[in-house]
Amino acid sequence: MPLARSLSVTSLSGLEEWDEEFDLEDAVLFEIAWEVANKVGGIYTVIQTKARLTSDEWGENYFLVGPYVESNVRTQVELIEPTNPALKRTIDKMNSSGCKVYFGRWLIEGSPYVILIDVAFTAWSLDRWKSELWEFCDIGVPWFDREANDAVLFGFLTAWLLGEYAAQCEEPPHIVAHFHEWLAGLGLILCRQRQLPVATIFTTHATLLGRYLCAGNVDFYNKLAEFNLDKEAGDRQIYHRYCLERSAAHCAHVFTTVSQITAIEAEYLLKRKPDIITPNGLNVKKFSAMHEFQNLHAQSKNRIQEFIRGHFYGHLDFNLDKCLFLFIAGRYEFSNKGADIFLEALARLNYLLRVNHSDVTVVAFFIMPARTNNFNVETLKGQAVRKQLWDTAQTVKERFGKKLYESLLVGQLPDISKILDKEDLTIMKRAIFATQRQCQPPICTHNMLEDSGDPILNCVRRIGLFNSSADRVKIIFHPEFLSSTSPLLPMDYEEFVRGCHLGVFPSYYEPWGYTPAECTVMGIPSISTNLSGFGCFMEEHIADPSAYGIYILDRRFRGVDESCNQLTSFLFQFCKQSRRQRIIQRNRTERLSDLLDWRYLGRYYIAARHMALAKAFPDTYLYEPHEPTSASGFRYPRPASVPPSPSLSRHSSPRHSEAEDNDEDERYDEDLEAEKDRVNIRQPLTMPFKNKSPA
Ligand code: UDP
Ligand code: G6P
Ligand code: GLC
Repeated sequence: MPLARSLSVTSLSGLEEWDEEFDLEDAVLFEIAWEVANKVGGIYTVIQTKARLTSDEWGENYFLVGPYVESNVRTQVELIEPTNPALKRTIDKMNSSGCKVYFGRWLIEGSPYVILIDVAFTAWSLDRWKSELWEFCDIGVPWFDREANDAVLFGFLTAWLLGEYAAQCEEPPHIVAHFHEWLAGLGLILCRQRQLPVATIFTTHATLLGRYLCAGNVDFYNKLAEFNLDKEAGDRQIYHRYCLERSAAHCAHVFTTVSQITAIEAEYLLKRKPDIITPNGLNVKKFSAMHEFQNLHAQSKNRIQEFIRGHFYGHLDFNLDKCLFLFIAGRYEFSNKGADIFLEALARLNYLLRVNHSDVTVVAFFIMPARTNNFNVETLKGQAVRKQLWDTAQTVKERFGKKLYESLLVGQLPDISKILDKEDLTIMKRAIFATQRQCQPPICTHNMLEDSGDPILNCVRRIGLFNSSADRVKIIFHPEFLSSTSPLLPMDYEEFVRGCHLGVFPSYYEPWGYTPAECTVMGIPSISTNLSGFGCFMEEHIADPSAYGIYILDRRFRGVDESCNQLTSFLFQFCKQSRRQRIIQRNRTERLSDLLDWRYLGRYYIAARHMALAKAFPDTYLYEPHEPTSASGFRYPRPASVPPSPSLSRHSSPRHSEAEDNDEDERYDEDLEAEKDRVNIRQPLTMPFKNKSPA
């Protein structure tokens, strides 16, 4: 028997590190997902943000495999000839056998290679492949399920690609194929059925049944052990999808999921306990000046304020400087994402702000894509009116400036009472008349296709938050992902998040939840829940999450009404913070970024791949798992610098005592305080966050 190469891990200050002798030289990694260069939700973020790290590790031997979608390729991919000779032969062979497979570089950080398969081009094989699937594993895919049909085509084509690649290699290759989510799972099942020399990993980012059951009216977490799985899947017409998902989980050499909570769910619903948890990371950008992210907040907030000026034209009776921007964003799963309880809490917050005569106004954005036929006229008009007012102001300013200049030229001070003439006044009056409006500022920015059945709109109708001037809470529903080319709110998602004050993600079903994680690395506080992978992860690793602007709502041990009260209380407390406290809190939030960096979290993917290689090629690779030395893992301590209470957080120097809201200088003081903490806190980050096995 050949000597097995050691994949053992060593510990460096508690951090698992792979032995240097470990050599991936002749191994090749394929990572397969429907969201490669194809944005749908968070899986795209996993693949896209992880690419740089994985490319650094695997170099020329890393290939992402996804569907060919022309509009995506046009904007994100540079098509090139494959550089790897065996892969070139593979793609040529497939293309001469009736497939359309493209090769290119995905133009993102790390520029990974992508293999994109046009599944529609091979639709002529669908019936044959479905029969084959039925014959070898009794899974029947109904004709009307378009997504499942795509999964069948994608699965057979990826297995074909991997099999052909193995055949084209001169030496027997060591292939690792990492499949994400049920849509890609069939490729894995086929690899095992055909006994291809491939080490397989399956990562599920949710379970199908979990998502469906939670969206219904089910006490999901208390009944996990009791569901009749086949029946539940059958009742929801997803039995075939469920079978594909469950088989992929069982066929994989290594099965992983993104959080502890989904691991437990997988154990009950898919009947396999994940071998390892692979939490989702992000590419954390560090600015050389620590306060730079605070400047970015101020810049982006100004742009959101401009939008608000247009949206509320004719009703701008609130102080924009005392206006807080809250938002929820993600795929439109009304109750799973907690939009239901957020709306209810906003209604309660509105009441509290009103009875307490608060001068704060809250604008809550809902960014959740729904079916629309474009922006509505009233919303577009708002921005046009704003622009017109701006232009009018510029015109009058120019006329004013000219008169002033002429007066100075002849050595006179202008007569201020005459400097605005009749024409100027007419121009301005006309502009003001144009801002008059009979209706309230719209809730929704688009024309909805299913307006009367839309859950957000129906809930708004029920709670009666219609953007009236008496309301302290305003609502804007933007049923489309944000884009910097939008005529309405021309900002990309990242810029928008930076400009907001608080992300609110009170999910009931959320295997991970990138949105609060993204807030954290941008230094924006957020609310998540103890039913979301992210919330649990933060709860586990931070001693006092709310001190860092990570509010974790209890949706596990409380009823809906109680959770809603807790959410209302978080929101109300947040509204009571001074600007200075918000600045301090943002500094603290941003300090947690390291915890979410792929530089740390990427190691779990590395472990999964090594585990899979050792299982698939035991003669060549050996996996020696590192025994955790401490069950608790690393925890961030409470922040040392500033006590959270409003009075104590002020400086003792009189210079600062009244300067609550004019804080340009203070910001730098806060940076210094943050720096003090940073030195203390950064140090222990060399500690591991242990992967615990699900309870
Ligand atoms: N997102 C986006 N544009 C938007 C709103 C959201 O790109 O206008 C992204 C966001 O950055 C996040 C993803 O959508 O990465 C949602 O992922 P999450 O894991 O929170 O939820 P999922 O939709 O996968 O359930
Ligand atoms: C950042 C900027 C400050 C600004 C503040 C506003 O810290 O650097 O110049 O005053 O944001 O904070 P706020 O929470 O009121 O948007
Ligand atoms: C899924 C989950 C989401 C997770 C994402 C990436 O779409 O719904 O919670 O963040 O996958 O893993």
